[in-house]
Parts: sequence; C-alpha cells; structure tokens
Amino acid sequence: MSTDGLGTPLAGQVVLVTGGARGIGAATGVALAQAGATVWLTDVLACDEAVATVRESGGQAHGRPLDIRDRDACAGIVEEILAAHGRIDALVANAGVCPAGTVAGDWAQWQHVIDVNLNGTQNSVAAVWGPMCAQRRGRIVIVSSMAWYQGGVIVGTEYSASKAALIGMTRHVARNGGPHGVLCNAVAPGLIDTDMTAEFPRGDLELIPLRRRGTAEDVAGPIRFLCGPDSAYMTDCVLNVTGGMVLAA
Ligand SMILES: NC(=O)c1ccc[n+]([C@@H]2O[C@H](COP(=O)([O-])OP(=O)(O)OC[C@H]3O[C@@H](n4cnc5c(N)ncnc54)[C@H](O)[C@@H]3O)[C@@H](O)[C@H]2O)c1
Repeated sequence: MSTDGLGTPLAGQVVLVTGGARGIGAATGVALAQAGATVWLTDVLACDEAVATVRESGGQAHGRPLDIRDRDACAGIVEEILAAHGRIDALVANAGVCPAGTVAGDWAQWQHVIDVNLNGTQNSVAAVWGPMCAQRRGRIVIVSSMAWYQGGVIVGTEYSASKAALIGMTRHVARNGGPHGVLCNAVAPGLIDTDMTAEFPRGDLELIPLRRRGTAEDVAGPIRFLCGPDSAYMTDCVLNVTGGMVLAA
C-alpha cells in the first residue's frame, strides 16, 4: 500500500473506532488505514483479527478492549491515544446492538439497547469532545440507522428510538462543535450483511432499489469520506447508505 500522495488523505491522522472487532467497524478500520490513518479498534469482543487484517493490508492499527457503557474507560482510551500520538483526529462511534423486538417488548432489553446505543455513544463522544475542541480540529461520525427514519421493521422500539436519538445528538454536537472546528455527521445504513443481520429473514430485496443487501465496505467508504478532507464543509449531515431503501420505505 502506498503511504503518500492523493491515495492517503488521512496520512498521519489517528482515528478511534468503537465496535471495531467485526462488521462495519472492522471494515471502517481497513478503509481508514488504507487512507493512511492509524486506527484504534475497540470493542467488547477481541479486536485481534480486525487489527491483523488492517496490518496485513499494510495499515497501522491498535486494538483495545472497550465497553462504551463505561464512561471512564472511554475517557481512558482517549487519554492513551493522546499519550501515544498527541492527537485524535476522528471518532467513529459505531458500536451498537440490535436485538429483534416489538413495541411492548422486554424492559431489560429496552434498557440494554439504550445503554449501549445511546448512552455508550454519548460516552465516546464526551471522551473526545474536550481534546478535539482543544486542538480545534476533529471529526465525529455517528453510526445511526435507517430505522431512525422509517421506524425499523424487525428491530424493537428501543433500537429505532436509540438511533433517532443519535440524530439529535449529531445535530447538537455539530451545532456546538462547529465554532471549535469539530465536525459531526451521521451515517444511516439500511440492511447491511453483517453478524447483526445474519438472522434477519432473507428475500425482501424487492424493498431495496439496488436489489441487494449492503456490505460493511459499502458503509465504510462513506464513513471514510466523512473523516477526510473532501467533507471539510459538511457538518450536521446524515448520509443514507441504504441502496435506496429509505426512498422505497
Ligand atoms: N448491519 C446493519 O444492517 C445495520 C444497519 C443500520 C445500522 N447498523 C449499525 O451499524 C453499527 C455496526 O453494526 P454491524 O452491522 O457492524 O454489527 P456487528 O454486530 O457486527 O458490530 C457491532 C459491534 O459493536 C460491538 N459492541 C456491542 N456492544 C458494545 C459495547 N457495549 N461496547 C463496545 N462495543 C460493543 C459488538 O461487539 C460488535 O463488534 C451498529 O451501530 C448498528 O446498529 C447496522
């Protein structure tokens, strides 16, 4: 992999990815590293495989255990990154859970999903906020979901509610971060082939204008764009990565 020139717009940059052990987070790690960034992949699952994949493709990666529900641990990872590099250029707040559910579903499940998807994301955003404002530069990409907009199909109320709340969070962070040089945008994936959707029934491709499920790489590209120089005048945006499914919903 080349490490200079136009192919590596993130050369020298340092990015924290939550939920980086697999799926969209792991693919994002590869995409960012190929653009020249050093990625810190974090997850409740072991990140060894994802880190090895980045390194095999010629990129630089570190892996750390991190449960985003732990506010102090989120702050600790950012401190470690700052100690190692003296900077943190972007956060990809990707970690999330998505159990199947209903409207009057299980209360423990509601609390768990809100705790991870909403409270955990806030913990990670809060951890980078001070350092990014201090360095007057930063990108925050929040991984929401198409469910924020169309209500979700198989997923429970708590998932749609949590992902809608992340759009409110994106807007608040964008409004307040802008004057400090901190940009915040969201991606809203549709139906993406990962472990999260492995049990989802197949066969509804008629609902997707592009007639296929997305891949993790399909989402990683737009995330990389939102971390890079080509989106320097974009904040408060929500990129639908749905193969047109929102349009069709
Ligand atoms: N796959 C889809 O169709 C789809 C659609 C819309 C949005 N999303 C969102 O994309 C993101 C990534 O999902 P994915 O499809 O790659 O699924 P995935 O299950 O493969 O990845 C999610 C990762 O988050 C991690 N995670 C869960 N709880 C955590 C916690 N408390 N702390 C840290 N990490 C934790 C998991 O261990 C996992 O590695 C999620 O936020 C998900 O809601 C996915």
